[in-house]
Amino acid sequence: MKKLIAGNHKMFTGVKEGLALASEIARNAADFGNAQVVLFPPFTHLCVFHEQLQGLPLETGAQNCSDMPEGAFTGEVSAGMIKSTGATHVLLGHSERRTLFGEGHELLCRKINQALDAGLQVVYCFGENLQDMEEGHRFSKIEEQLQAVFESFSQDELDHLVLAYEPVWAIGTGKTASLHEAEEAHAFARELMRNKYGTDAGNELRILYGGSVKATNARELLSSSEIGGVLVGGASLDAAEFLQIIQAAG
Ligand code: 13P
Repeated sequence: MKKLIAGNHKMFTGVKEGLALASEIARNAADFGNAQVVLFPPFTHLCVFHEQLQGLPLETGAQNCSDMPEGAFTGEVSAGMIKSTGATHVLLGHSERRTLFGEGHELLCRKINQALDAGLQVVYCFGENLQDMEEGHRFSKIEEQLQAVFESFSQDELDHLVLAYEPVWAIGTGKTASLHEAEEAHAFARELMRNKYGTDAGNELRILYGGSVKATNARELLSSSEIGGVLVGGASLDAAEFLQIIQAAG
């Protein structure tokens, strides 16, 4: 299976700048090799990205979606609207949404439900923060975040879900989890899936790593069979560096 290389642009770039970034990446599509590439720009960029990148092996996704299908919810964007831009993916459960916007398990499960109903692939983020790590609650935090989802969806539904392990202490800090730390969190998540839905479901689960991924550490992370790809923040805003990360997928 190809490695998934995802770029989370967060709340950066205007439309022109974002499009220039995406076009520069797309110009090098011949070098994508073993990578499936998905860009997550702000909502405002999705339509124009899709129009300009048509026919190229570059997919798009949103960084969030509403937990409601439609209605008088000023400022919200539904999963169906995201799908209608041509996007294929949505990122849910990112630690910035959990901590800065107070998103909890119940809300996130409703959002996942909307995304699956709309036919989007979900990239669901999980991971412990520094305090969990220091107090020895790392795995219980991961278990809590994943069980809430595994218990709410069927195995068929979870086929449309990719996990992204993002230890909060590694996001935007320059500190990457060691390969061992990433592999043990991935293996733990996979085991939870196996316990719930059996060996095949656990083995087939795609789990990305995110948190200070750079051109300099991507090759080592992507060489692991436990790591199905990477979710890149800061380094995805630099086309040359993001291309090096794509090429590190082999
Ligand atoms: P950084 O790569 O900037 O640490 O961000 C990671 C992230 O939050 C991706 O979703």
